[in-house]
Amino acid sequence: MSIAEKIKILILDDEKQFTEELNGFFQDSEYESVEANTAAEGMRVLKSHVIDLLILDVRLPGVNGLDILKEVKGQYPAMEVIIISAHGDMDTVIKAMRLGAFDYLRKPFRYIDIQIAIERTQKYLQLHRRLKQMEERNSLISKNLEEKIDRQFIGISPQILEVFDQAITASNYPDSNVLITGESGTGKENIARIIHFSSARKEHVFCAVNSSAITDTLLESEFFGHKKGSFTGAFNDKMGFFEVCNQGTLFLDEIADMPFNLQAKILRATEEKVVTRVGDTKPIHTDFRIISATNHNIDGRVKSEKFRLDLLHRLNTLHIHIPALRERPEDIKPLLTHFVELYATRFNKPNIRISKEVFGLLATYDFPGNVRELRNMAERAVILCKSNVLEISNFPVKPQKENPVERVSESVNLKQNEFNLIQKALKNVDYNLQAAADALGIHRDALSRKMLKFNITLSSEKKIRIPS
Ligand SMILES: Nc1ncnc2c1ncn2[C@@H]1O[C@H](COP(=O)(O)OP(=O)(O)OP(=O)(O)O)[C@@H](O)[C@H]1O
Ligand SMILES: [Mg+2]
Repeated sequence: MSIAEKIKILILDDEKQFTEELNGFFQDSEYESVEANTAAEGMRVLKSHVIDLLILDVRLPGVNGLDILKEVKGQYPAMEVIIISAHGDMDTVIKAMRLGAFDYLRKPFRYIDIQIAIERTQKYLQLHRRLKQMEERNSLISKNLEEKIDRQFIGISPQILEVFDQAITASNYPDSNVLITGESGTGKENIARIIHFSSARKEHVFCAVNSSAITDTLLESEFFGHKKGSFTGAFNDKMGFFEVCNQGTLFLDEIADMPFNLQAKILRATEEKVVTRVGDTKPIHTDFRIISATNHNIDGRVKSEKFRLDLLHRLNTLHIHIPALRERPEDIKPLLTHFVELYATRFNKPNIRISKEVFGLLATYDFPGNVRELRNMAERAVILCKSNVLEISNFPVKPQKENPVERVSESVNLKQNEFNLIQKALKNVDYNLQAAADALGIHRDALSRKMLKFNITLSSEKKIRIPS
């Protein structure tokens, strides 16, 4: 119920003349009201209408009005009740107030008395709802603050320096949408936070949403919000993510999994910056930036018609690809050192060193879980370590089988390594030229030239063919 919205009232009293008169008065006074003359009729109305305020006579024939009060407060906790009592029945009034009635009126009363009581109730309801909306917003903000701490992005490889550079550019253009791709655990959400908190939107909400984690039936209302009573369980008006993110950033994680039927609606909201809550008609303006992320091959999803090309074009104004950790092994050392320091402080184990062999061992590992895996390894190693030195025994990693073509560090032949890296980069991104060029930290044209030089071509099945 916004300030402009009308309060909806149910009058429950056995005196038909009284309910009719009061109903007429309410209709003239801009309130929406319904009347009922028996408890059963009243309960039926409550089931089929969204009522904000019940005006209840506690002396209904055959039933105890206090029992009705108890029942409706249990079933409709957001509804307020004003009771009508007989003159001198203070005992009932006290009991009713204890059961949660908001106010009481003694019969006979003047219209002005009921009007004052209703206005007070209305103000209270509005405040209560605004408070709830603020709580929803604040819980998101405090979550942000907590996670703000985890915003360091460690790395020295040219690829990661390039990613960092692209993130800074993205933060300077706070209205352009950004798509971040990369395998799981490469730091996509981390980069999204860095972009938001370095941008002009940083004082506003960063809201991370994984649409694949929300049930289908709730998706639309979670994104667009809903009006109270628009479906079973919609007890209050609710803001959706787009509204909550007004002036902030909406981070759409796992964008490739977004249900197809929602994609058109998301596209429209993104283009028009206007949303309408489920069950409502009022357009609401909201200004947000979308950063989305995926570890899937989104071009493949477009080809298989699981993802709309027009939405992809809207989302990838700026594209940042974070290469897998195995493609930038020089980052392992600074990352491990950082995580070990972090956990050594957290677990109160100061002065922990990392033995050289550990770095040697990790250089042979592929890190399918990328930086997240390395981080978990560091945590476990610090916990299990009995001395001041982390040894290879603290790292449950088996050196992986050496594949002479794949292993880059084995050979020091520059040409051979360049060839291997290009081949590997293409394979890692399912032979997408742009993504491979991003991973290699070079321009797409430069990659094409190098492929020509090494005679690497993509066949129609997108398999690498290397002419002998
Ligand atoms: N360069 C980095 N420096 C410091 N920490 C990093 C870096 N990259 C990733 N991390 C850490 O690794 C963990 C995983 O990162 P994040 O959640 O951002 O990955 P993701 O790409 O979103 O993964 P997923 O696709 O599984 O959602 C986090 O704890 C993050 O802080
Ligand atoms: Mg993520």
